[in-house]
Amino acid sequence: MMIAESIAPGHIKSEDEHRRDICVAGRWIHARNFVAATDGNISVRLDPSRVLTSPTAVSKGMMAPDDLVVTDLKGKRLSGHRPPSSELAMHLLIYRRRPDVFAVCHAHPPTATGYAAAGLALNKAIVSEVVLSLGCIPVAPYATPGTPELSSALEPFVQNYDALLMANHGVVTYGADLLTAFFRMETVEHFAQVSLVTETLGKQVLLSSRDVEKLLAARARYGSVTASQVGPQCPVTSETEAAARVSFTRDELEALIEKGIEDALQRHREDG
Ligand code: 13P
Repeated sequence: MMIAESIAPGHIKSEDEHRRDICVAGRWIHARNFVAATDGNISVRLDPSRVLTSPTAVSKGMMAPDDLVVTDLKGKRLSGHRPPSSELAMHLLIYRRRPDVFAVCHAHPPTATGYAAAGLALNKAIVSEVVLSLGCIPVAPYATPGTPELSSALEPFVQNYDALLMANHGVVTYGADLLTAFFRMETVEHFAQVSLVTETLGKQVLLSSRDVEKLLAARARYGSVTASQVGPQCPVTSETEAAARVSFTRDELEALIEKGIEDALQRHREDG
C-alpha cells in the first residue's frame, strides 16, 4: 500500500527537512489543482534573518530540494542556483508584520480565485468550522503581481487575517508552520466551493451573531492571534445581513418601478 506523503507539524526542523516539506507542499498544491503551470509559491522562515523560498518560474509540483533558494529578509539571495520567487516581497511583508508566522503559501485555487476575480469576500458565517478556523477571508485590492504595490495592497489586511483573497489574482495563506499554511489554503478553497453551492441553490442560512460570538470566543481559547481582530461586520451574520436587506411586497415594488419610469420619462420630456 502507498503511504501518502506527509509534512510534520511544527517549524523547528533542520533546513533539509524544510526543503523536503516545501517540495511536498508544492506537489500537494499542484495535485489538488490549486495552481496551473508554474503558478504559486511557498516559503518558510528558517531563522530570524533567513527565508527558504520556492524558485521563480518552475512547476511547484516538480521541485527538488536543491531548487529552493535561501534569502535574507530583504530578499537578497544567500544561496541557491535559481532566482527566488517573483512574489518573495509579499512573503517578506507577511514575515515582517507577523512574528507568529513561519510559513506562507500562495496559489490560484479556481473557486476561491473566482471569488477574488468577482471582488467577493468569503465573509459569510455559513460554515461554523470556517468561522472557527479563519474568522473570515477578505479581498485585498488588485495590484500587479511581483511589484511593491502588491505588498502595499495586502499590508492593511495581514495583521488581522490568516488568509486573503487577492483581487483578480489568487489566494495567500500563512501560519505558524507550513502544514498550517497549507491547510488554510485547503480550507479557503473548500469553503469557496461550499459557498458556491449555496449560491447555486439560491439560499444561504447565516449563523446568528450569538453563534458567531461563541465561535470567535473558542478561536481565542485555541490561541488564535487574529481572533480578537475580526471586524464587527466580518463574518457577516444573519443579523448584519437582515439589517442590510430591504423587502417589498409585489405591489410596492411595481409602484416603485412605475414611479422610476415615470420620473425618467418626465426628465426626458423636460430635456427634449
Ligand atoms: P513565481 O514562480 O515567481 O513564484 O510566481 C508564480 C505566481 O503565482 C505569481 O503570482
